[in-house]
Amino acid sequence: MALAVRFFDQQPADVADSSLRDDVLQGFAQAQKALPPKYFYDQRGSELFEAITRQPEYYPTRTEEAILAAASGEIARLAGRDAALVELGSGASRKARLLLEAMRPVGYLGIDISRDFLLASTQRLAADYPWLDVSAACADFCRPMTLPDSLDGLRPVAFFPGSSIGNFTPEEAGVFLRNLHRMLPHTGGLLIGVDLIKDQARLDAAYNDAAGVTAQFNLNLLERIRRELDTDLDPTRFRHLAFFDPIAARIEMHLVSTRDQTVRLEDRRFTFRAGERLHTENSYKYSLEGFRALAEDAGFRQLRVWTDPAKLFAVFYFAA
Ligand code: AVI
Repeated sequence: MALAVRFFDQQPADVADSSLRDDVLQGFAQAQKALPPKYFYDQRGSELFEAITRQPEYYPTRTEEAILAAASGEIARLAGRDAALVELGSGASRKARLLLEAMRPVGYLGIDISRDFLLASTQRLAADYPWLDVSAACADFCRPMTLPDSLDGLRPVAFFPGSSIGNFTPEEAGVFLRNLHRMLPHTGGLLIGVDLIKDQARLDAAYNDAAGVTAQFNLNLLERIRRELDTDLDPTRFRHLAFFDPIAARIEMHLVSTRDQTVRLEDRRFTFRAGERLHTENSYKYSLEGFRALAEDAGFRQLRVWTDPAKLFAVFYFAA
């Protein structure tokens, strides 16, 4: 198939410097052992995440999709004519497809760090929407970046669904939103999905589904380390732990050592005491007012917010 997608490579030169090996060596050496959540998403981890989104307890995905589908006409009006949808961490572009027919943007730009996945999904999008001018930028959207000139003269609407913003700390989220605000022209907008603070039992259940898929997703991080690195790490000696901390307003995910053990990684040894935790992810939840304040501090202005009837999840539209 001919490449109907304009491709921009903006991958920072130092991306390759951050490797699983280095981050595991560093993360295991800390007093509070921790690993960056980005390593969840190898092939198996991406499949498990897809499976999480289909679990009955994991409400965010289906709730956000229902909000987007119901609000798509209004989103189209707010975006206006000559819009370009700019999807951050575009992945399979599933959620963008909910908007394209109603919005009829002139352009679509998918931004993702995973080059092959990005190319495949934007090529599928270009084939399915022949009227759409599709571009792809391989870039780490957590860093400052500039919009490619294929969007010149259009009104970019940054689209960041899934409450992925919740995997940043509020401080990191503030920096990310400021960088995004700097990247957008004043005619631009931001459409962003945010998971809301709610009763603890519902949150705990969403990260402890009965089928054990989230546990597998968490433990796959150890499977990945075992597969890819020179180590005697045994994932069966750890268990999944996830809970909501109402003070920090975040879900914390950990892997708990089920015994005293020593793990070899190359020629280094790391001890884990029974019950010791390896911190693998935070997922912050916001109030409607709290998230509005965070985005407005970064320079955005709220035009509209939609929620589901149970106020589980919110989709915000901000003007740049
Ligand atoms: C991708 N991210 C928004 C998900 C979340 O809910 O924080 C990742 C996830 N971790 C466990 N379940 C889902």
